[in-house]
Amino acid sequence: MIRLYIYIIFMLSAVTAYSQRRVQDFNSDWKFKLGDNKEAIQPGYNDAGWRTLHLPHDWSIEGPFSERNPATVQGGALPGGIGYYRKSFFLPVVSKKQKVRIEFDGVYRNSEVWINGHLLGKRPNGYISFSYDLTGYLHNDRQPNVLVVRVDNSQQPNSRWYSGSGIYRNVRLVVTDPVAIAYEGTFVTTPQISRQSAAVQLVSTIDKHGNKNEKVRIESIVLDAQKKTVARQASEILLREQKQDIAQRFNIQKPKLWSTDSPYLYTIVTTIFQDNKVVDTYHTPLGIRYFYFDASHGFSLNGKPMKVLGVCMHHDLGALGAAVNIAAIKRQLRILKEMGCNAIRTAHNPPARELLDWCDRMGFLVMDEAFDMWRKKKNKFDYSLDFPEWHQRDLEDQVRRDRNHPSVFMWSIGNEIREQFDSTGISIARELVATVKALDSTRPVTAALSESDPQKNFIYQSGALDVVGLNYHIETYKDFPKNYPNQKFIGSENVSGLASRGHYDMPSDSMRYWPQHSKQKTVEHGNPDFTVSAYDHVAAYWGSSHEDTWKLIKKYNFLSGLFVWSGFDFLGEPVPYAWPARSSYYGIVDLAGFPKDVYYMYQSEWTHRPVLHLFPHWNWKPGQVVDVWAYYNMADEVELFLNGKSLGVRKKQNDSLHVWWRVPFEAGKLTAVSRKEGKTVMTKTIQTAGEPYRVQLLADRNIIHADGKDLSFITVRIQDSTGQLVPDAENSIRFSIKGNASIAGVDNGDPSSHDPFQASNCKAYKGMVLLIMRSQQKPGTIEIEAKSDGLRTGKIIIQVR
Ligand code: GAL
Repeated sequence: MIRLYIYIIFMLSAVTAYSQRRVQDFNSDWKFKLGDNKEAIQPGYNDAGWRTLHLPHDWSIEGPFSERNPATVQGGALPGGIGYYRKSFFLPVVSKKQKVRIEFDGVYRNSEVWINGHLLGKRPNGYISFSYDLTGYLHNDRQPNVLVVRVDNSQQPNSRWYSGSGIYRNVRLVVTDPVAIAYEGTFVTTPQISRQSAAVQLVSTIDKHGNKNEKVRIESIVLDAQKKTVARQASEILLREQKQDIAQRFNIQKPKLWSTDSPYLYTIVTTIFQDNKVVDTYHTPLGIRYFYFDASHGFSLNGKPMKVLGVCMHHDLGALGAAVNIAAIKRQLRILKEMGCNAIRTAHNPPARELLDWCDRMGFLVMDEAFDMWRKKKNKFDYSLDFPEWHQRDLEDQVRRDRNHPSVFMWSIGNEIREQFDSTGISIARELVATVKALDSTRPVTAALSESDPQKNFIYQSGALDVVGLNYHIETYKDFPKNYPNQKFIGSENVSGLASRGHYDMPSDSMRYWPQHSKQKTVEHGNPDFTVSAYDHVAAYWGSSHEDTWKLIKKYNFLSGLFVWSGFDFLGEPVPYAWPARSSYYGIVDLAGFPKDVYYMYQSEWTHRPVLHLFPHWNWKPGQVVDVWAYYNMADEVELFLNGKSLGVRKKQNDSLHVWWRVPFEAGKLTAVSRKEGKTVMTKTIQTAGEPYRVQLLADRNIIHADGKDLSFITVRIQDSTGQLVPDAENSIRFSIKGNASIAGVDNGDPSSHDPFQASNCKAYKGMVLLIMRSQQKPGTIEIEAKSDGLRTGKIIIQVR
């Protein structure tokens, strides 16, 4: 009865919406079960006992962590396996002529998809977006259709970082008329840009089903950010082919340019008319910008020289795993933007669509990377096995999907590809670059090379790269113009500093040889004898400190910029640390999204906002000698006071990026004052904290949307009775929730914690915890309480609207 009712609703809505492209979010109410079960492919299979869930979904993040999980600590020590997803649905279409397509943004990995028992195809690459035509296999009546997806992430290890498992990106059902813009079917370019006008070209690929020639009118309008029409083109064409391209040109007067500071976006709306009726409407984003890499002067955007101030980011969202979420992506970008970062490298695979959408809107440049390996493997079961059969298709699909994003400014055909070391690298590099150029000749192609000797690097020798991407080896950068005459440079990957939030290991010789080092258990927690002095000197032996790296990039104009490894900590690759570590130490920001101290070094260098950051905390043993550092900008000097007594004025010398004092510890108040021409710019105080007293809750957003997806990220701090953060607090927090919301995850940023992310309790690490709340589809008020034995309970209210 209910099904019949739903069917009637679909019929009615379909009648009113006939002749329009319909895009339906297809994420809700899937059935899921772990384990192999070929029977489940059959449409009649009874999945009543399976778990019901909404996509995007990552089953690996549900845990548990174990050293024995075949992904190894490199893969985050989380489980893989095989899983099945099933969804029954009634077709929201009435016309037999309409086309129905299913779009998957990403399934990790080896997905196979069946509709009503018919195999639509398989897709080994876990990061690629793909779509299948369902037309012809569907029941357009009262019988339900059954879509089944088998995901196989059982062959492990297949990744050097945490991948996640499952349908971890969005799924849509798209219904179109027989004449419609094809899947990823537009390509917008800006062949000429001046202050007065911009020439914009849109090439639309139009699908036509059926043998009859069709006469259509295609009208495209360019809307500015206020939705005002600023240009229009209409073309009449006779469609003879099943796929036909049509080019339209626009002139935009006094264009507003897209930049990282002011990411102005236009939209092109393309409408196809047949017999004066609208048969399709399609939106293409447009950002008008031009940029240039120069062998002597580095990078410029819209004619203005600037450095690419980038970070490398893997795709996981910390405690949420790989399951894509817009609120989580926006939070990451917001945190990076506040640091002054203006570019993201999508290490080492095609990103979520949503990341690019938000980089367009928030003003980030994106180096869009395709592969971490070609034919030669880095792990036993990695993509090298699929590369021969799939690489061309995967690369084409990536470029077609991403080439309309103004944020995307270069393509990378690979990271530290092993073929750089032998002559096979030459032909593959040429082939991949040609594949990219055939679909997009407007952006440079690079590769992230780890062999810095040009004579020994065969990918470089191919001559196919537009920009030379060098990973690490900063000692070679100053000679780049000599060693790579007339070549353009980007630091495609840099630094690999090692720290967890508020915790630093001493630099030691063993650090330079991580194979020995990794045998030791070096994950220390609050070692009381640790004399703090090594805040920015610990990096992987192939890397370099944050400060040394940035100083060099800043110094030479021909160095276009860098991508720091990494923006955020990510799951997996705790190298050089061994189990119990299970996530990385490289991030400028930790896994929970809490900035580490070096974040403020970048902020002081990369923004024009006043910064004064004083660290470390002020809870040490009496008499212990502690180095106190300050990062600052927009001032000439900083004076430090301990309990009111001056410890001296410091100025940055030469190119140094911080000032410091060696201070015998004495409990109390440590205050830094930055001054410019004698006038106070900023004051910062850190104080010796007493015993844990209360739990404080602070939300990044106190009002979230009632869409079942939106998130509020709540920072939990253990404070003493005066409100100071207790820097070594490890109290356990229990959360209780009233209202229409659920806990999406908890984390504390500790890379060696084995507590589950999906829980209603979490132990503090360095005094802090992150609670991630997810809305439901009902508006209302959420009351959150955070309790801890012996402490005053923390409370917060979030509105869901
Ligand atoms: C690089 C590599 C990255 C990551 C990093 C860690 O060589 O490209 O994926 O492994 O090292 O330092």
